[in-house]
Amino acid sequence: MSEESEADRDGDADADETVVRRDRFAGGPARSFLSSLADDERIFAADLAVDRAHVVMLAEQGIVEDDIAGEILSALDSVEAAGHADLPDGEDVHEAIESAVIDRVGQSGGKMHTARSRNDEVAACIRYRLREDVLELVETVVGAREQLLAVAREERETVMPGYTHLQPAQPTTVAHWVLSYEQALQRDTARLLDAYERVNQNPLGAAAFAGTPFDVDRERTAELLGFDGVAENSMDASATRDFLVEVTSAVATLATTLSGLAEDVVVMASKGHVELDDDYASTSSIMPQKKNPDTLELVRGRTGDATAGLNGLLTNLKGQPRAYNRDLQRAGRHAWDAVDSVTESVEVAAGAVATADWPAETLEAAASEGFATATGVADLLAMAGVPFRTAHEVVAEAAAGLDADDDAPDYEAISAIAEDVLGAPLSEFVEREAVERALDPAESVAMRDSRGGPAPSAVADQLSTAEDVLADHRAALESTADAVESAHERRRAEVDRYV
Ligand code: ARG
Repeated sequence: MSEESEADRDGDADADETVVRRDRFAGGPARSFLSSLADDERIFAADLAVDRAHVVMLAEQGIVEDDIAGEILSALDSVEAAGHADLPDGEDVHEAIESAVIDRVGQSGGKMHTARSRNDEVAACIRYRLREDVLELVETVVGAREQLLAVAREERETVMPGYTHLQPAQPTTVAHWVLSYEQALQRDTARLLDAYERVNQNPLGAAAFAGTPFDVDRERTAELLGFDGVAENSMDASATRDFLVEVTSAVATLATTLSGLAEDVVVMASKGHVELDDDYASTSSIMPQKKNPDTLELVRGRTGDATAGLNGLLTNLKGQPRAYNRDLQRAGRHAWDAVDSVTESVEVAAGAVATADWPAETLEAAASEGFATATGVADLLAMAGVPFRTAHEVVAEAAAGLDADDDAPDYEAISAIAEDVLGAPLSEFVEREAVERALDPAESVAMRDSRGGPAPSAVADQLSTAEDVLADHRAALESTADAVESAHERRRAEVDRYV
């Protein structure tokens, strides 16, 4: 610690008593290694909120005098206005804000830290900030789902090839494909909302881990901070970061959903099955003809950020003894990185799909390549009473020798083989017209109207269910955000009674 900054911070004679703590670990080569102050910018606002709720509660409980609470709360307003960059040196944002308060109020500012520890304080800050990030991410995912549903509504009849093992499999539609991802995003949303409930619990009042002799009101700080409940056991409350794991895991799962979507679009683009809007494409610095799906490749690549975050976090937490260890200072960053990276991915992936063009003719032609309608023909025979395995054999023989980009065999070809295998002309089982319909990709899609299937009628049902689920998620998001907002107002109103 330089003499100058020491003089700066201790300029107020009243603050002399804090010198012991300030100087005890003030210098040395590990000073910056210990410090999380720069990283803590992310929880600067959270820490101020946590401080305010704590001080209001201390005053209400008669633990701190009202006038001193008022001075501390005014100082917190001034610290907020000065911003994170203006904080004095400190091991972390909690210590720095406390020093800044003492600098403004004098030694009675030190009463702010009565009946708490940085351990319950930082846990409260992380939860407070994380819930904001989760709500923003959920909002983004819900918006993305809205965009995907709009594409599905538009492209209900747009037939496209469906693949398994990247081989032509069966015709489907762009709507059915896009809804498959919207469905996964429904679960991703639900996982985040579910994790939110366990994030939004109040660890404050746990102190270091072992509680406090002061008559703290943990429900009151929960209420002032908009936490839905109290993290009961004080040792668990200050030690646990499993809520970070839950969120990061949900984020990594979401990123994995997006990576599949991104990969599909990259493959489609390579075949001319989708035309990306220029806003979502990139060029080559050397090859003038190129239009590359780089945005989607980055969405795919960012899955690594989320997976790495989850791995890093779990590795950080593994085997930490009760109750608090400084390893925890490195836990949050994994979650923040994952959340930030993936929130952007959601927007870009949905934007790319929503603005893309789906060339209907090219897609429909591609949908009959590789005899992708074969299953429909076999289904037709099976519907006429032929055991499915036998029907499968007839069509498999008709398919033998076809290349992946060959068109389907015609009625005559299939009929000849059927006669061989079944011992009777094909017309005894199915009408020529029905076979020809089954060979048509659009008809093939329309036939598959089972629940959840690609037929436009089945897709219409999926769309309406998806719209209902979306509305429910939106409502949940709004009421949660309202609850947080009213806690902010409640806290501010209480603070204003003292300042
Ligand atoms: N900066 C610390 C963290 O993020 C705050 C808690 C410090 N507590 C302690 N016992 N050293 O975890």
